[in-house]
Amino acid sequence: MTRILVTGANGQLGSELREIAKREEKNLNFFFSDLPDLDITDKASVEAILREKECRFIVNCAAYTNVDRAEEEPALASKINCDGVRSLAEAAKACACTLIHVSTDYVFNGTQRTPYTEKDPTSPLGVYGRTKLAGEEAMRATGCNGIIIRTAWLYSAFGKNFVKTMLRLADERDTIRVVNDQRGAPTYAADLAAAIVRIIPQLIAQPERGEIYHYSDAGELSWFDFATAIMQQAGKTCRVEPISSAEYPSPTERPAYSVLSKEKIMRRFGVEVPDWRESLDKCLQRLK
Ligand SMILES: NC(=O)c1ccc[n+]([C@@H]2O[C@H](COP(=O)([O-])OP(=O)(O)OC[C@H]3O[C@@H](n4cnc5c(N)ncnc54)[C@H](OP(=O)(O)O)[C@@H]3O)[C@@H](O)[C@H]2O)c1
Repeated sequence: MTRILVTGANGQLGSELREIAKREEKNLNFFFSDLPDLDITDKASVEAILREKECRFIVNCAAYTNVDRAEEEPALASKINCDGVRSLAEAAKACACTLIHVSTDYVFNGTQRTPYTEKDPTSPLGVYGRTKLAGEEAMRATGCNGIIIRTAWLYSAFGKNFVKTMLRLADERDTIRVVNDQRGAPTYAADLAAAIVRIIPQLIAQPERGEIYHYSDAGELSWFDFATAIMQQAGKTCRVEPISSAEYPSPTERPAYSVLSKEKIMRRFGVEVPDWRESLDKCLQRLK
C-alpha cells in the first residue's frame, strides 16, 4: 500500500483528491493535511509527518493562489510558493519520498500563439507567476525525486473559482462583462486529480527527477467563451458581453495566451485529457 501525503488538501485540487480517495484507489492510502495542522514552510513538521505516516509520496496542492493580492503580498506569496516548495522537496529527499508538485500556466508571458510546451521559455508577468516559477526551480535544485505538473484555469465543485463566480453573478445580474482577449483552456480539478492518481504508480515503477509536464482540459477559448458556455450549459439567462482586458482593470497583467500542450503527459503517462465542455458539464451537474 503506497502512503501519500496531500498538502493544501482543503483547496480545490486537494478536495477532488479526497473525493477520489473516498470512492476508489484501494492501493493508495492518502493522508490529507492543510493549515493550520501542517504548514508546508515548516520543514521539520513535514519531515515528522512523512516519517510518522511512512509516506512514499507527497502531492503538493498547497499554494498562495490569489493572483491579484500577490502583488501586494509578494513576501508571503514567495514564502509559500517558493520557500514552502523548497522545504517540501528537501523533506521529500530526506525521507526518500517522491514529490508531485503543481504549478501554473502563469509562468509564461502569453506572447506565443501555439500551445506552450514544457521546453518553451518562461517569463512570468506578475508576482504569482514569478513565485511559482521560483518554486519549480527550488524543487529542481534539491534533486528530489518527483515531477512538476503545470496546470491552468482550475475550477471545481469546491472552493472559489470562475465557474462558481459566474453562477453566482448569473443570479444577481442581467448582464455581465467578461474579457475576450485572454485565451487558454480550463482544467476541471477532478480531471487533474484523476491524472495524478494515474501517474503515481507509474512514478513508482519508473522514478523521475524534476521533469515538467503540462495538463489542462482539451480545447482553446477565452474567458468570455467560458462564461458564455457556463451560462448556456447551466441554463442561465444572464447575458455575457465581451470586453477587452483594458476595460477590466486589474492589479496584475495576465498572459493573453496560455494554452498548454498536453502531448508530453499523454505520451508518458497515458492520462486522459477530456474535452473542456464535457468536464464543465460534469462540474455543473455536481453543483446543481
Ligand atoms: N486556481 C487556479 O486557477 C490555478 C491555475 C493554475 C495553477 N494552479 C495551481 O494549482 C494548485 C492547486 O490550486 P487550487 O486552486 O486547488 O488552490 P486553492 O484552492 O487555493 O488551495 C490551496 C490550499 O493550500 C492551502 N495553503 C496555503 N498556504 C499553505 C501553507 N503554507 N501550508 C499548507 N497549506 C497551505 C490553502 O489554505 P488557505 O485557503 O487557508 O490559504 C488552501 O487550502 C496550486 O499549486 C496552484 O498554484 C491553480
